[in-house]
Amino acid sequence: MTPPPSTPSVDAEGMAAPSWGHLTLIEAGAGTQRTTFAEDVAAGLTATPKSLPCRYFYDEEGSLLFEAICELPEYYVTRAEREILEAHANEIAAQVPSATTLVELGSGSAAKTRLLLDAFFRHRQQQRRQHLCYVPIDISRSMLEESSHALLNDYPALEIRAIAAEYDDGLRFLRAESERPKLILWLGSNVGNLERAEAARFLGRVRATMTPADRLLMGVDLRKSREVLEPAYDDAQGVTARFNLNLLARINRELGGEFDLDAFEHRAHYDEVVGRIEMYLVSTRTQRVRIRDLDLTVSFEPGEPIHTENSYKYSLAEIDALSAAAGLAVEARWLDRGERFAVNLFVPA
Ligand code: AVJ
Repeated sequence: MTPPPSTPSVDAEGMAAPSWGHLTLIEAGAGTQRTTFAEDVAAGLTATPKSLPCRYFYDEEGSLLFEAICELPEYYVTRAEREILEAHANEIAAQVPSATTLVELGSGSAAKTRLLLDAFFRHRQQQRRQHLCYVPIDISRSMLEESSHALLNDYPALEIRAIAAEYDDGLRFLRAESERPKLILWLGSNVGNLERAEAARFLGRVRATMTPADRLLMGVDLRKSREVLEPAYDDAQGVTARFNLNLLARINRELGGEFDLDAFEHRAHYDEVVGRIEMYLVSTRTQRVRIRDLDLTVSFEPGEPIHTENSYKYSLAEIDALSAAAGLAVEARWLDRGERFAVNLFVPA
């Protein structure tokens, strides 16, 4: 048994060299035809009503702002999920086979993943000694590299096979990860950004990569009162407003846009019938905004919104229906003490 190297090495793309304390980074989806930021902005701002896709929030600036959101007193989501993982990580680790590979969709900073890694290594008794494979999938290559190096530093027995890709491109790689049982993590209520029908279809595709030994652990934000939800998405310090407005700042930076950020207001509205938070950027006056690289001028009326995000909330019955539609059954479910959030362990039905 060779000791793990003190400095993690990085492989050339796609080279499989299984060892400990080792990072392989694969960039997936290069062959896929995908719309660009420019195309999506042009389409969204010339549509009626205007909209922009929420996945463009997460450039470097936006990713930092999102980390700041997770610390806000009003944004209970991250804390509630963390509370559940802290309380039940051991139980989760005990519930899956010991040679399980951890896969994570939208791994981000992987801060909460550490709770599970700790439990997995504890469960294997030889703390931080025994080999464990972690497969983070994220659209941000820089975020993947940063979080992977930080993890390898703290968990030398980890083998990381990072995949820089959108979810669906990442999923195609998971079919290859079938020698060992896997626990797929989809945390943070990221499912909330998808329309309900879209969420069921996506989970169906996740299900299609699973063998009977595999499990899916999904964190879902629950339906609750407007009095709790709206401040969580419109905080007193204005961090969420800056996160939302960063979309316009990004258009200015990357596409030669001339948005005046002071002429747009952040708005968060909870539609309790549909069960979703809607975020908008609202024009405070009549204005025309030129976007040089798109050779486009966009007109706004006073009070006219750009729809920038949906964040769907689920009841427990809706989680059951969603997973059933995807061919998954609930094996275990944990709520935080305030019953604001649910972490669900699914097994192929
Ligand atoms: C990362 C999609 C789970 O919907 O709560 C937070 C994004 N937007 N505040 C959420 C978000 C505004 C977040 N998700």
